[in-house]
Amino acid sequence: MDPLLETRELTKQFGGVLAVKNVAIKVEPNEILGLIGPNGAGKTTVFNLITGLERPTSGDVLFEGKSIRGLKPHSICKLGISRTYQSVRPFLNHTVRENIAVGVSYGRSIDHNNEEEKIDKILDFLNLTSKQSLLAKNLPIEQRKLVEVGRALGGNPKLLLLDEPMAGLNPKEMSDFVELMNTLRQTNKDMTILIVEHVMKVISSVCSRVIVLHSGEVLSSGTPQEVLSDKKVIEVYLGESYSKSEN
Ligand SMILES: Nc1ncnc2c1ncn2[C@@H]1O[C@H](COP(=O)(O)OP(=O)(O)O)[C@@H](O)[C@H]1O
Ligand SMILES: [Mg+2]
Repeated sequence: MDPLLETRELTKQFGGVLAVKNVAIKVEPNEILGLIGPNGAGKTTVFNLITGLERPTSGDVLFEGKSIRGLKPHSICKLGISRTYQSVRPFLNHTVRENIAVGVSYGRSIDHNNEEEKIDKILDFLNLTSKQSLLAKNLPIEQRKLVEVGRALGGNPKLLLLDEPMAGLNPKEMSDFVELMNTLRQTNKDMTILIVEHVMKVISSVCSRVIVLHSGEVLSSGTPQEVLSDKKVIEVYLGESYSKSEN
């Protein structure tokens, strides 16, 4: 089977900074793939290149076998790629419901019937029904994150990109989020997820495969177990204390 998404020799230069260097990754249909690596490794830039927020300096991005290089973000979203942002940014002066409605209207769905029903379903899934009339700006951070996830899910994506969805959450909120992801997988068997996350427990409990970026390049890839015990990864990212405590 063809990969759902593939990057080929993907490269992005910002002035003198080579943020992403010849990155070749394949995201297979239905997997939950983790993208990890130290701060500044180029993870968010890879997301920006996939979603059309940034243009590659060179290289290509293929979705379902076709190049999407140079397409505008809204066109890429229509094709079935939705994302959340590392710096959470729901539409703050809009209600929770309106935020999700935006995802539903700009996403992949061609059928615009029953939109209200689709919104209700997402609100219910995220436990936000009772908050639907509140402005996003009046919600605590963890619920703003859920609103972003809701907006992304509204697009009914084939590929969902989550950029550090759990940063800033406490352990209870984190385990709720992990549970949410697992439920999401069970109820949307055809959804593929690419997730950037720093908490290794989360990565090992939700990802079937992991890719490690370092200085804009792929340093390692494999199952969470393989990657988390890879000496190179421990050296540049996880640190010795991690290897002693977890292995
Ligand atoms: N818009 C930009 N302009 C200039 N440099 C950038 C820009 N975006 C990212 N960078 C640089 O690219 C590198 C990778 O950043 P980023 O993709 O945000 O890493 P990560 O998400 O892995 O922490 C960093 O050195 C960062 O400073
Ligand atoms: Mg980042």
